[in-house]
Amino acid sequence: MRPNIKNIAVLTSGGDAPGMNACIRAVVRTGIYNGINMFGVLQGYQGLINNNIIPMDARSVSNIIHLGGTVLKTARCLEFKTDEGMDQAYANMKAHNIDALVVIGGDGTFTGARRFSERHPVSVIGIPGTIDNDLYGSDFTLGYDTAINTVIEAIDKIRDTADSHDRLFFVEVMGRDSGCIALRSAIACGAEAVLLPEKATSLEELIRTLEIGAATKKSSSIVIVSEGHKQGGAYDIAKHVKERFNHYDTKVTILGHLQRGGSPSSFDRILGSRLGYAAVNELLKGSSRQMVGLRGNDIQLTSLDEALTAHSFKLESDLLEMTKVLSI
Ligand code: F6P
Repeated sequence: MRPNIKNIAVLTSGGDAPGMNACIRAVVRTGIYNGINMFGVLQGYQGLINNNIIPMDARSVSNIIHLGGTVLKTARCLEFKTDEGMDQAYANMKAHNIDALVVIGGDGTFTGARRFSERHPVSVIGIPGTIDNDLYGSDFTLGYDTAINTVIEAIDKIRDTADSHDRLFFVEVMGRDSGCIALRSAIACGAEAVLLPEKATSLEELIRTLEIGAATKKSSSIVIVSEGHKQGGAYDIAKHVKERFNHYDTKVTILGHLQRGGSPSSFDRILGSRLGYAAVNELLKGSSRQMVGLRGNDIQLTSLDEALTAHSFKLESDLLEMTKVLSI
């Protein structure tokens, strides 16, 4: 039986990710198609607390499908972690008669949604939107595919210089505690080595790999360092390696926030559209405290509790093995 939902709000929270706009568009238009009044919350949970809530119609989301970032803006909101913050957010929702919330974001966003829906009677569906790909229950999160393509484009350019100057480059990529971007871009760019937060790689091991490369006439090398690597970032690793292995001219590049922006790939536009469409349909079926995600080629539900569990399984073992085999 369809629950009595008349008004739905959508927000984006945490780090922006390419594909969020395609997703917002799908949420808003699926709601309107089903006769629901749709609202947008500006600046994530902070906007919910500050009553920054606007009505949205089908035209509010025209011409945004190709844009990176999020037209609803986003924030990392500490106030929403407090009971007072959540109570104020709920009061504002009630003032607009909003019955249900679609939240697009990563683990912080889902943690907030879970606590909020435990404290107040609000139906909530989460959509995994983060370049980190670190949520259980979706093979891919929104923005991850575009981010990897951005990284690949950058590292391909770096390889031109590495090759021309016979240099060793350490390239740091994003991912907080997740090595997904690092691992996939290492395969796609043919990196000589990759350092991941989930896997201990000793400096000895790395230096041995580089020494073997040099001994077998590799004139340049690229090492991808995930920002969450336990022994430090690219600058630290480069310094330690240089002290012990000075065969190459060594350089460091931190790719940083350029990985988060840009026009979404076809994959992220379609994923965002599918997840947004599914989120509203699930709310209308009565689902709550669930995440909609992609498993195989199917959209499936996972409870927010489960989605927030460990993600290290996401590093495909064949890709891990291939980083050694294909870089000899
Ligand atoms: O969660 C996405 C992410 O880009 C992480 O990879 C990174 O560690 C973090 O956000 C950076 O956050 P901020 O933009 O707030 O500095």
